[in-house]
Formats: sequence, structure tokens, C-alpha cells
Amino acid sequence: TKKIILDTDPGIDDAMAILFAEAHPDIELVALTTVFGNATIENGTRNALYLKERFKITADIAQGASQPLVRSPVGPTEVVHGLTGLGDFHVPDDFVGHPDPRPAYQYIIDTVKAHPHEITLVAVGPLTNLALALQAAPEIASLVAQVVIMGGAFGENDHRGNVTPYAEANIHDDPHAADIVFCAPWPVTIIGLDVTEESFFSAYYLDQLRHDAADMGEFIFTISRYYLRFYSQKVGLEGCHVHDPSAIAYVIDPELFITRKGAVRVVCEGPASGMTMQKLDTKQYQTDEWSSMPAQEVGISVDSAQLLDLYQKTL
Ligand code: BDR
Ligand code: CA
Repeated sequence: TKKIILDTDPGIDDAMAILFAEAHPDIELVALTTVFGNATIENGTRNALYLKERFKITADIAQGASQPLVRSPVGPTEVVHGLTGLGDFHVPDDFVGHPDPRPAYQYIIDTVKAHPHEITLVAVGPLTNLALALQAAPEIASLVAQVVIMGGAFGENDHRGNVTPYAEANIHDDPHAADIVFCAPWPVTIIGLDVTEESFFSAYYLDQLRHDAADMGEFIFTISRYYLRFYSQKVGLEGCHVHDPSAIAYVIDPELFITRKGAVRVVCEGPASGMTMQKLDTKQYQTDEWSSMPAQEVGISVDSAQLLDLYQKTL
């Protein structure tokens, strides 16, 4: 089994990813660390704590960053994920959960050091907590097993973003943090829109999941109503892309994906802020901004039929 810390901004597809990780026997979910993004940090953490209680998840919950490192906050994406992050579903007012007392970045540092070379960090929100952990303890870079990110877009066909023409939401929310994470000397695999938009949960698929997957299926059905309305009205699709669960699928079965290697950087300012770029050759240029960067893996495609099957069977 792989021990994972799942860094997340719950979030409808985040919840879909959390339940996928919890349900799969090859994954030991050590913790959910939360970050601002789809919802405020308070709502995101409350959503994580609620999932822990409802689905008897043993993972710790540690609350993380409430805002990006440098840029001004973008704010929650209510139009996609609803007022508190889980669509029409709201955690009951009287629910009280108990997060770990440490901030997420400190939890990550402590846990990576306690289990050298065993922890896979999976991040499916803005990368602020991972960047803060690297800044406070750069030595963790050589102590993690692997880092898997849902974020970015490397578009062959000029598809580079979902919040701006050139930026995907997680990277756009904190481009400086993403650049720190991609430039660090640790093994990163980035599963961006090129891959996550190859798979769809159709309305029919979610109906079936409700039927087949007990309370997890019921919950995913409930929270996905709002998400499907957004996709239908704003994207023109009768289903939703499979963003965050694709990162979990990569951890379970990397063979489903095709990746390519090369240095990855992020545009941090200006109209293309949040844009991700990968350089494939190793040529030396006149400045070392690129040539000294570690080569990271970027997902370029996935066997989506197998991915959908894996998700359904796991749940
Ligand atoms: C990413 O942004 C968030 O809205 C989703 O949860 C996902 O992590 C997709 O761009
Ligand atoms: Ca997310």
C-alpha cells in the first residue's frame, strides 16, 4: 500500500477524489490537509472533517493556508462548487469536527520526516501548503516517495486553461507556490487538464454509482447535482470532467497514463498568470532559469474507459 497525504480544497471533485482514495485498498490515507480554493479555508476544512465522520475515515485532518503566497486572493469558486464547496449540500450547523492542532505545512513536514521515502503527496488544490512546507524544510524534497499534482494545462491544441484562456484554477490561485513546487528537486507528476478533461462522469454514470456504491455513491450523487448544472449551463456538457479523481487514479495505476519528462515553470505575473509550460529538450540556454530545473513528468493522455471502470469498481 502507498501512504498518501491528500492536500485538497474540498470541493465537489475533491470529495470524489477523497472517497476514491479512502475506498481503494492500495492506498493508506494518512491525512487530508486543506487549502483555500474552491471554498474558504474554514468551509473546506469543515467539509473534510464532515467526510471523515460520515465515512469513518481514519485520516488526520490538518487545516492549511487561507490565501496565496504573493498574489491577491481570487476567492471561492461559488459558481462551480456552491456557497460552501459541496454544491447544494451543506454540513449541518451543529456538526463539530476536530482538526490536528498543527497547520497543514507543519503536519506535512513532520509526517514526511517520520516516514522517510514512504509518503506520496497528492495535491488537488492550490499548491500553497506544499510550497510553505518546502520553504520551511527544503530537506523534505529528498524524503518524499513521490508528488502527484492535479493542476495546469500544457495544451497541444491551444487549450491552456479553465479560469482564464491560459490558466487552470489550482495554478491560477497561487502561481508562485506552483512554481516553487515544480522547481523543487523532488519527483513530481502533473496531471493537468490535458488528461482530466479526457474523462467524463456522465449523468448516467453518476446515477449508476448512486445505485452501486452505497452511501459513498449516494453522497457523490447529491453533491454532483450542482456541479452538473454548472457544466450543463456554462460548459455545455451533460456530465463533468474528472479532475481530482484522476490524480488518485495515477497513484493507483500509473500505467493508465502517458507522461513526458521535462522542466516545468509557471507564469507568475501578467495576463498569462498561472500558465504552465514544459520544456522537453535539455539544451542549455543563456540563462539558467530553465536549464538547471529538475525534469518533471507531465501527463498527456489517459485510458479514460479504464479510469472510469477503476473508479466505479473501487467505490
Ligand atoms: C481544479 O480546480 C478545482 O475547481 C477542482 O477541484 C480541481 O482541483 C480543476 O481545474
Ligand atoms: Ca480541487
